[in-house]
Amino acid sequence: EAGLLIPSSPSSSVSVILSQDDLKKIAAYKAVEYVESGMVLGLGTGSTAKHAVARIGELIRQGKLKNIIGIPTSTITHEQAVSLGIPLSDLDSHPVIDLAIDGADEVDPYLNLVKGRGGSLLREKMVEGACKKFVCIVDESKLVNYLGGSGLAMPVEVIRFCWKFTAGRLQNLFEESGCVAKLRTSGEKGEPYVTDNGNYIVDLYFKKSIGDLRVASDAILNIAGVVEHGMFLDMATTVIVAGELGLTVKSK
Ligand code: 5RP
Repeated sequence: EAGLLIPSSPSSSVSVILSQDDLKKIAAYKAVEYVESGMVLGLGTGSTAKHAVARIGELIRQGKLKNIIGIPTSTITHEQAVSLGIPLSDLDSHPVIDLAIDGADEVDPYLNLVKGRGGSLLREKMVEGACKKFVCIVDESKLVNYLGGSGLAMPVEVIRFCWKFTAGRLQNLFEESGCVAKLRTSGEKGEPYVTDNGNYIVDLYFKKSIGDLRVASDAILNIAGVVEHGMFLDMATTVIVAGELGLTVKSK
């Protein structure tokens, strides 16, 4: 758990330790300050974005935000937004989005992201690719020197048909980076994880940097059977990081 020591009140010498979830909430609330009445909003997915969606719902209920239209990036966010009474639409009806708020799994120094460990990368990339502004919200554990550098998964959404063949091609593509490709599973029986779009996810693990990200992106997308990957290159316009020293806002 991340720890951020803050005074419990301006005059108090007593400090409280904030959890990683508290940090996520702080970043999320900061991002919601960018929201104005009348906006079409991309609603992200994950434990950080969930706080932003909850806050937007709260402000709508309090009458502080009016005429908001939300475009959810997953069925789970759709359900959360419906439960909060946030009016919803989709990209077909609203192809231009004013602002999206979403979390990330990794953020590099150039504000490139890895997303999709929560499984929603395809819809997230469609929605966030249609945004005028994309505010990414993370706690500082998500900062990396290069994408793939956390040693955690780089997700690729693939069609189910001959997924092993596609996983093998992905692994071969990054042989020099020591890539291992694994099918994502879920549940006690280890069934394949199925995305909102009915596809599978192959998670790529790297031992070394994958080099030029654009080259890597094109090479992945060039494999038949791949639907989308979790590298979000040059898409975030602002990244809000909550960490031990407080909030940092990085913008392009
Ligand atoms: C879901 C995502 C999430 O934004 C990402 O996994 C970060 O999640 P969390 O906020 O729970 O750490 O890309 O597909």
